Amino acid sequence: MSANKPAAGGAVTVNTLRKLRHAGEKFVCLTAYDASFAALLDATGVEVLLVGDSLGMVVQGRETTVPVTMDEMIYHSAAVARGRRRALLMVDMPFMSYATPQQALGNAARLMQEGGAHMVKLEGGAIQVETVRQLTARGIPVCAHLGLQPQSVHRLGGYRVQGRDEQAAQQMLQDAQALQAAGADVLLVESVPVVLAEQITRAVDIPVIGIGAGPACDGQVLVLYDMLGITPGHRPKFARDFMQGQTSVRAAVEAYVQAVKSGAFPAPEHCFE
Ligand code: KIV
Repeated sequence: MSANKPAAGGAVTVNTLRKLRHAGEKFVCLTAYDASFAALLDATGVEVLLVGDSLGMVVQGRETTVPVTMDEMIYHSAAVARGRRRALLMVDMPFMSYATPQQALGNAARLMQEGGAHMVKLEGGAIQVETVRQLTARGIPVCAHLGLQPQSVHRLGGYRVQGRDEQAAQQMLQDAQALQAAGADVLLVESVPVVLAEQITRAVDIPVIGIGAGPACDGQVLVLYDMLGITPGHRPKFARDFMQGQTSVRAAVEAYVQAVKSGAFPAPEHCFE
């Protein structure tokens, strides 16, 4: 495959996502871990490619995302960066790579300089406010990940829906607003009740991406392998196998893009109450 150059015009930026939100147009995000898929997803109009630390599970076959390292994230991010042309490249900061603001600054810089990231994503609410403030003050775009935070799976005791009781829901709403005030450019909300995701989306003025968070979010994301129906074992309730009824991977991705853009995905069966 020839090395792809970034498209000169039409590249998706944080401003594009803000404009889409304000225009009420849904945007599409998928995880990507290599150059070939990055090129395919980019060509089908996916606006955001997420190099998720889910690669620890779906690429490396590990049980959780906890063992994923900075070097591994950089390796996959650089591969995706070589395949993309237009999509915004968001990259996860792996477990404990942002335990202090100082550590976060050094590691986010590596993801951008060595991995080609345009935006970093980190998990956590109030505890990450100072880190988000310091990253964004230095020009590093940040997506803050709320709701189910897979890096905390051992503390949570499993991959459970978050924010179901009133106190947890109020805390998440406050965290969303505090992260926005600290400069977060995007929020990602995972596995929360539809009503809470809607409240969060209304309570902030920045784009909100949902996964297992219902249709009110500005954008939707799925793990690529869940969307293609190839994740071994249990597929999460919020995912849909878009390969069904399609004859090629490209057609499945196009069906996902179309379903998100039209609001057909997520449907009630993919949502939590
Ligand atoms: O790592 C990942 O793929 C993610 C998504 C589940 C949002 O964070």
